[in-house]
Amino acid sequence: MISIDSDKCTKCNLCSKVCTKKVISPGPVIDPAKNMFCIKCGHCYAVCPSEAITVLEFKDVAKDESTREPVSPDHLMNLIRHRRSLRFYKSEPVSREHLEKIVEAAAYAPSAKNMRRIKAYVYTDPQVIAQINGRLPEHYKKLLKIFAMPGFPLIWRWLGHSPGMLEAYRNDFKRITEDPEYQVLHHTPTLMVFTAPMKDPMSTADGWIAAQTATIFAETLGAGTCYNGYLVIAASKDKTLKEIMKIPANEHVVSAITMGYPAMTFKRSAARKPMRATFI
Ligand SMILES: Cc1cc2nc3c(=O)[nH]c(=O)nc-3n(C[C@H](O)[C@H](O)[C@H](O)COP(=O)(O)O)c2cc1C
Ligand code: SF4
Ligand code: SF4
Repeated sequence: MISIDSDKCTKCNLCSKVCTKKVISPGPVIDPAKNMFCIKCGHCYAVCPSEAITVLEFKDVAKDESTREPVSPDHLMNLIRHRRSLRFYKSEPVSREHLEKIVEAAAYAPSAKNMRRIKAYVYTDPQVIAQINGRLPEHYKKLLKIFAMPGFPLIWRWLGHSPGMLEAYRNDFKRITEDPEYQVLHHTPTLMVFTAPMKDPMSTADGWIAAQTATIFAETLGAGTCYNGYLVIAASKDKTLKEIMKIPANEHVVSAITMGYPAMTFKRSAARKPMRATFI
């Protein structure tokens, strides 16, 4: 829901142009029948040259006085190319000040229909992180048993996966379950997890995008990250793991990143397969 201050409005109609839900029609006129479809995206507020628009949900939030600053393509590409999945961290967790900024950045990530139904869980308690890490092999022991069932490789092929992929997973799962030195969470001092409501595919996408926004922003604060798919997979099945993580039953873990200040410096950017891009 929005309101327009008619004393300030100069009738430029930019707000009706940008409103993706057509809550505002040219005039500008707020269509009462469509007001319920307002997604509170703030496009109208952000475009209005006269500060005539209020998004009612945020009417008490202090105005962001900052203006858009240029970021050079070279600087951003440099950050993107030099970001590496970091698996060696200094022992101290990412500072609370930095974590709050990273979570704030994630809150500004694109979100389907601006619903923002995802939540962030940030772990810095070494005991809780150790408990989470300690629980992970349980799930992979079960998966190894399934892999060993007669006929499983055939089912795997039938599902369209390659035998090489099965071997790669088996190799990883053996390491997780048999190597006492190996930690799925890479001895991380900080773990950031995004959850979404169950059976909500759009919010699930939001959880990934939030994690990627956090990942990139963390780099600017000198913190490195690594996605942890093996935690996500285990948390999708293991109720005990979710309890340890203090995640309610009606939420599911979408994305997880280990995070910390680097205890390893990479000297250069490494090559990547080019994107198979089609320009039409
Ligand atoms: C969806 C996803 C899941 C991942 N899961 C893990 C994981 O469980 N453990 C891990 O060490 N790295 C994980 N990674 C990191 C990838 O291995 C890494 O991104 C890849 O090797 C490329 O390296 P780079 O991120 O440094 O470019 C994951 C990455 C993504 C995008
Ligand atoms: S953008 Fe602002 S000034 Fe322009 S029509 Fe909308 S409310 Fe009025
Ligand atoms: S907040 Fe977004 S959806 Fe709502 S009226 Fe403004 S532009 Fe339209």
